[in-house]
Amino acid sequence: MSAKIIDGKQLANTIRQDIKKEVEHLQTKGVTPGLAVILVGDNQASRTYVANKEKACKQLGMKSVLIELPATIDEQTLLTKIVELNNDASIHGILVQLPLPKHISEKKVIETISPEKDVDGFHPINIGRMMTGQDAFLPCTPFGILKMIQSTNIDVTGKHVVVIGRSNIVGKPVGQLFLNENATVTYCHSKTTDLASYTRQADILICAIGKAKFVTEEYVKEGAVVIDVGMSRDENGKLCGDVDFESVQDKSSFITPVPGGVGPMTITMLMYNTLKSAAKEI
Ligand code: GUN
Repeated sequence: MSAKIIDGKQLANTIRQDIKKEVEHLQTKGVTPGLAVILVGDNQASRTYVANKEKACKQLGMKSVLIELPATIDEQTLLTKIVELNNDASIHGILVQLPLPKHISEKKVIETISPEKDVDGFHPINIGRMMTGQDAFLPCTPFGILKMIQSTNIDVTGKHVVVIGRSNIVGKPVGQLFLNENATVTYCHSKTTDLASYTRQADILICAIGKAKFVTEEYVKEGAVVIDVGMSRDENGKLCGDVDFESVQDKSSFITPVPGGVGPMTITMLMYNTLKSAAKEI
């Protein structure tokens, strides 16, 4: 079997068209969705992500404000800036790009963002709301993955979803989202023994490991759906994911490419969350 590609770029564009229409509608009511992005320091990867977020805002007619702060900034100054944005009515979403310099507490930063403007879905209140099935800002990468699976028309009810990786940003919340959709979920991570014995049971395998081309066909059940959250460089410096695409492609039924898979969906769901926040104004 040769897998169908879940084209994240195309799906993202389709969703973005709908978001753009909604933004235009809000603007007729006098509301322009506004996203503030705080970038601390000079991490090149973070700079690229932030630039892509700004570009997406502009493309969709949203206001975007980039606040660049030096790596040496003290924690209190950053927290004060966040409080200012919490109180700024023209800002509907606040995102502090991670990682932060070591002297700044990510926990304090995330908890200072108003849960009503936490479009990343990282605040414990939003995580708690998501866990209990309440309305919440859903974290963007997990949300994007759910949309990608839904685009295949596969009913996830009763399906076995195996997640490799247990980060707060992707692994943990993506499992929870699929549990909310009535899937059976298994979490695997770096301490899991005999990883392949779990991953080979997966109807849907979500790979969020951070190791280039780690997942080869021995880890995959025939006909599984394989979602690749990784973003690494291979030995030739070429962008690649956690999945060895060539090896897995013929065994899976659907697979996401890197680049052009989960990445564009993450930014799109950030735009969606910002729109959702702004829409509460009318
Ligand atoms: N760093 C890597 N991914 C993300 C993300 O989705 N949001 C934020 N704020 N920082 C990140």
